[in-house]
Amino acid sequence: SILILDFGSQYTQLIARRVRELNIYCEIHPYNKIPELDENLKGVILSGSPSSVHEPEAPIPNLEGILGKYPVLGICFGAQFLAQHHGGSVVRSEIREYGRANLSSVTQNELTKGLVDGEQVWMSHGDSIKELPDGFSVIAKTKDIPVAAYCKGNIYGLQFHPEVYHTTNGATILRNFCVDICGAQQDYTAASFAEETIDKLKKEVGNEKVILGLSGGVDSSVAAVLLHKAIGENLHCIFVDNGLLRKNEFEEVLEAYKGMGLNVRGVNASQQFYDALKGIKDPEQKRKNIGKVFIDVFDAEAKKVEGATFLAQGTIYPDVIESVSVNGPSATIKSHHNVGGLPDFMKLKIVEPLRLLFKDEVRRVGKTLGISDKIIGRHPFPGPGLAIRILGDITPEKVAMLQEADAIYINGLKEAGLYDQVWQAGAILLPVQSVGVMGDERTYENCVALRAVTSTDGMTADWCHLPYEFLGEISNKIINRVKGINRVVYDISSKPPATIEWE
Ligand code: XMP
Repeated sequence: SILILDFGSQYTQLIARRVRELNIYCEIHPYNKIPELDENLKGVILSGSPSSVHEPEAPIPNLEGILGKYPVLGICFGAQFLAQHHGGSVVRSEIREYGRANLSSVTQNELTKGLVDGEQVWMSHGDSIKELPDGFSVIAKTKDIPVAAYCKGNIYGLQFHPEVYHTTNGATILRNFCVDICGAQQDYTAASFAEETIDKLKKEVGNEKVILGLSGGVDSSVAAVLLHKAIGENLHCIFVDNGLLRKNEFEEVLEAYKGMGLNVRGVNASQQFYDALKGIKDPEQKRKNIGKVFIDVFDAEAKKVEGATFLAQGTIYPDVIESVSVNGPSATIKSHHNVGGLPDFMKLKIVEPLRLLFKDEVRRVGKTLGISDKIIGRHPFPGPGLAIRILGDITPEKVAMLQEADAIYINGLKEAGLYDQVWQAGAILLPVQSVGVMGDERTYENCVALRAVTSTDGMTADWCHLPYEFLGEISNKIINRVKGINRVVYDISSKPPATIEWE
């Protein structure tokens, strides 16, 4: 495996993704929390950082057990640190170099094999390396900096970012390092992950009982199937209908889960959620009330599983990394001072089979497990569901109206072959009435907004340029078929500054 030490760069996760795309297993750890190094470790990558090596607070690692023992690749700050640590000099550049640059004077060696002069790379740095330590050689420059890449023995440094797509041959460089220089095996695949994880879960859980909350989403579904393969009937799944799901979703997803052989209990708690939402208009208050009812309902169900000792969660890698990153290597994930007041299910031991996977990897693992595309390819859907797509207060009637409009929209996307091109889509019921005319009659009814975005992670998103003809058809269908709606609009805002949801 490859160890990636994180110095706080916005690109650290990208490094891991690129390495895993080479089918090489890697893990990210904070620079100051180096894990125990075992015989599986083949090499180490040092990430970039928002800090400068000159700052008193600069993140300085202790690489005693690493330098000289493993090949090391420093990227940006990582390269500057390695150069300075060995006696070179790093200076503040006059201008911050940001964006595309082209390599020159590329010297062919193990790292640069396959690169040529003129090669496009992505730069993002304030400091640069002015002089290399004795014995180090420059292996590439650009017109603005004398050291774009260097090496000495099995120490390598890159001023640019090979993990960013704009570095055209970044994948080649990472392959050269991980495979040729480190000798890492390219045997990490979704299938091998699934197999190993099932074995590990068997050992970790043994004959004990596990409770898992299914949501209908990809993560909890894949976590459930992995556990089911490992421990069979000892996995007890709970799927709560909060009355805020899409039309027929509860019944359909429950059936799909049962078809997969999962031991799942469906709980219809809609009324409890509606009661808790009565008259509530504030989005955050809606979220809080929904969260509280969910805990009550889940706790009551979990107690029915006698002797359960584990709670399974569909946590994935981005959540894990966020909680241990450089800014908070000591951040507590959960505080236990409050154990007496926690719901009973939270006192269980936690098992998280997906905690080392990125979303796209979760999907691939799901595929190798034979989970249907219907579940794996589903758009993300927020936990509070339609409650945050009904602006203003929630009533069961409004939910039913929105469910109809949303179903026409989503089914339309599927029929038109557009569903998979969209990252997330949904209809939003606005607290607005407007005048219309139907037959000879004046109407004064509700308005629905349609939203569709493209995105890779939900952090940023662009509104989707759906065909006008498609939007026209959907608008007609909604207005003709859904009683109470006489106007449809399309949301053309991107995130930022808008968000994906309206609340
Ligand atoms: P925003 O609206 O912040 O949404 O651009 C980004 C992604 O997060 C989802 N989302 C939520 N998911 N509970 C959830 O489980 C929530 O309260 C929540 N709010 C937003 C949203 O659907 C999108 O995928």
